[in-house]
Amino acid sequence: MADGTKVADKQHRGALGAAYAAQRPEEVAALYDRWAGTYDADMSAAGYRHPTICLALLARHLPRGAAPLLDAGAGTGLIGEWLNIAGYPEVEALDISQGMLDQAARKGVYSALHRLALGSGLPFADHAYAGIVAAGVFTSGHVGTEGLDELIRICRPGGVIVLTVKNTLWEPGFAARIAEVEAQGSVTRLEETRPYVSMPGETDTVPSRCLALRVR
Ligand SMILES: C[S@@+](CC[C@H](N)C(=O)[O-])C[C@H]1O[C@@H](n2cnc3c(N)ncnc32)[C@H](O)[C@@H]1O
Repeated sequence: MADGTKVADKQHRGALGAAYAAQRPEEVAALYDRWAGTYDADMSAAGYRHPTICLALLARHLPRGAAPLLDAGAGTGLIGEWLNIAGYPEVEALDISQGMLDQAARKGVYSALHRLALGSGLPFADHAYAGIVAAGVFTSGHVGTEGLDELIRICRPGGVIVLTVKNTLWEPGFAARIAEVEAQGSVTRLEETRPYVSMPGETDTVPSRCLALRVR
């Protein structure tokens, strides 16, 4: 059993390490397509924390029943399941990887699934969503500040965006961009957690923080 755990851990580190190093969105999608079948078990073994922290912040700032929500970079739907249980009745999933979306679909908790890439224009109307959550997406090799403006555009005034940002992206780019959109009056920062390790079961992981933004 100990050997089996080690093998799973190595596979996980390999998949995530490759995803962090990816250069192009198609590469990221292909990596996650291959990982999708074992992602939930691997992340559970690593003590993955982002979904729990995101859910806590969202539930603190967005009333039960708010709809619709968008799980941006939903992956296999770990958060979707919990959003549903916590009382958000209509949640849509967006992800660049069809393999991850196929796993999410099997959970039966999303009202729609969109295979789309964050980082450029999204085919959704202004103010379409009451809330948006993006867990583990604003991280190395995935999506940078270029993904933020569209999320703000498609979230309705008064709505909440909860996102995690890895430290490697925070300074200098992300911190400055969040400060900028705040100064422009597009969002108010409701909360920012202290940096925490999202996968305590992994060695040498860079901390992330979770933010809750109110769209104005
Ligand atoms: C670490 S996983 C997090 C998944 C899920 N939010 C969770 O917490 O389990 C990152 C997800 O982001 C997706 N992703 C990476 N780049 C993306 C992009 N440009 N647009 C949309 N999804 C992207 C990946 O396919 C993957 O499902």
